[in-house]
Amino acid sequence: MKKIKVGIFGARRGASMAKVFLNHPDAELTAVCDKYVPALKQMEKMARESGKEITTYESFDDFFNHDFDAVVLANYATEHVPYAIRFMASGRHVLSEVPASETMAQAVELIEAVEKTGKVYAFAENVSYSPVVFEMQRLYERGDIGEVMYAEGQYIHDSPDEFTARITYGEKEHWRFRIPPTFYCTHSIGPILTITGRRPVQVSGFVTNGADWKNGKPSGIEMVTLDNGSILRSIHGPLKREPSGCKSLIYGMKGMMETDRFDNELLHVYREGEKVCQGEFEHYKPGIQIRAGDKQLETGHGNADLGAPHYFIQRILDRPEGHKYMIDVYTGVAMSICGLLAYRSVLDGNIPVTVPNLRNKNERDAYRHDHACTTPSVASDQLLPINPIAADPLPDEYYERIRHLWLQYEQEHPLS
Ligand SMILES: NC(=O)c1ccc[n+]([C@@H]2O[C@H](COP(=O)([O-])OP(=O)(O)OC[C@H]3O[C@@H](n4cnc5c(N)ncnc54)[C@H](O)[C@@H]3O)[C@@H](O)[C@H]2O)c1
Repeated sequence: MKKIKVGIFGARRGASMAKVFLNHPDAELTAVCDKYVPALKQMEKMARESGKEITTYESFDDFFNHDFDAVVLANYATEHVPYAIRFMASGRHVLSEVPASETMAQAVELIEAVEKTGKVYAFAENVSYSPVVFEMQRLYERGDIGEVMYAEGQYIHDSPDEFTARITYGEKEHWRFRIPPTFYCTHSIGPILTITGRRPVQVSGFVTNGADWKNGKPSGIEMVTLDNGSILRSIHGPLKREPSGCKSLIYGMKGMMETDRFDNELLHVYREGEKVCQGEFEHYKPGIQIRAGDKQLETGHGNADLGAPHYFIQRILDRPEGHKYMIDVYTGVAMSICGLLAYRSVLDGNIPVTVPNLRNKNERDAYRHDHACTTPSVASDQLLPINPIAADPLPDEYYERIRHLWLQYEQEHPLS
């Protein structure tokens, strides 16, 4: 059978996707693009070690003209939509990293581009495919804990200056310096939507202290009402804890289940029995459940990184598991816009904000010209402040220090 030819745009996070596509029975990695040459070299090395050859590009336009059927967007988190639209218009399928869009207008544009082109768009919310969350999805579907009443999602990853340097390279304009604290919300909201199949209808946003970035950095919180009236509390950001990690918890009408607070592989389940207030507890590690053919591919984040690329390929091949488990554009957008709208709520005194169902065509017009975000060139006269609390921008010495830390790190840990 002919393999699906894949290109990867963005070679840092993209390296994790490359690991899958270089070894997948149904896919073939053909090209990678990144203007950061050491990351390209590392990709070439990974390919050689797998006995494969790839073409690398520093220029996006040259990459765009390469022959592939599907592309991974692992480029800057605020720039997925324009590229997704361009690729789908050219006949390519798209697997997009998180979040889906930077603005509400882009969310509408993205959905309409998928509908118009008929191409496969998959959302790479990887925590939804971690073994514990995948198991929770299976248990929820089987009815083990009944319908959701309350849920929590958490993604905590501390970011001391040394780590900030590694993920921003000290570039003042890097998206990680410019996004509002509620923006990166899909690892906490996503798994709950995936497990329950519910849709968000309203959100209130909050931001912790630490917004001056001198003593800690702010985290984002979303209180989300789901379409059956249940409540989801989502928190994500750089709070103090090690190891970093995600946590999902669901209380249902017949029981509850939660991932362990510190052991990312452990799941706890309570199922009420025939008599009220009496049931059984189970504590176990579900282990790896997603396989690419008969292959056991080891991927990052506790093997959570396999599901998104694998089911993307299965969906392109029109296989039932691809239809069932791929996260489509409507769900990916729903996971992402909670963070955009939560920030409006933050700026407006934490008021509840309606989350539209953009699957419905008649709910789209209200957002078609909604460009509000923190990037001046995108927002124009709808520009939002980056920092909801501190009035002063960070001083230049801060960025200089981070840049210095990055140059030091790059020298000590060269990619090869
Ligand atoms: N799901 C996860 O667990 C996870 C983890 C990390 C990052 N991400 C997501 O992956 C994406 C990438 O993040 P990252 O951590 O790799 O950092 P990043 O955003 O700094 O890296 C993006 C890479 O794309 C390259 N790039 C961007 N525009 C380009 C252009 N026009 N031409 C050539 N190269 C270009 C940059 O040089 C850079 O190396 C983001 O969307 C982020 O949210 C997801």
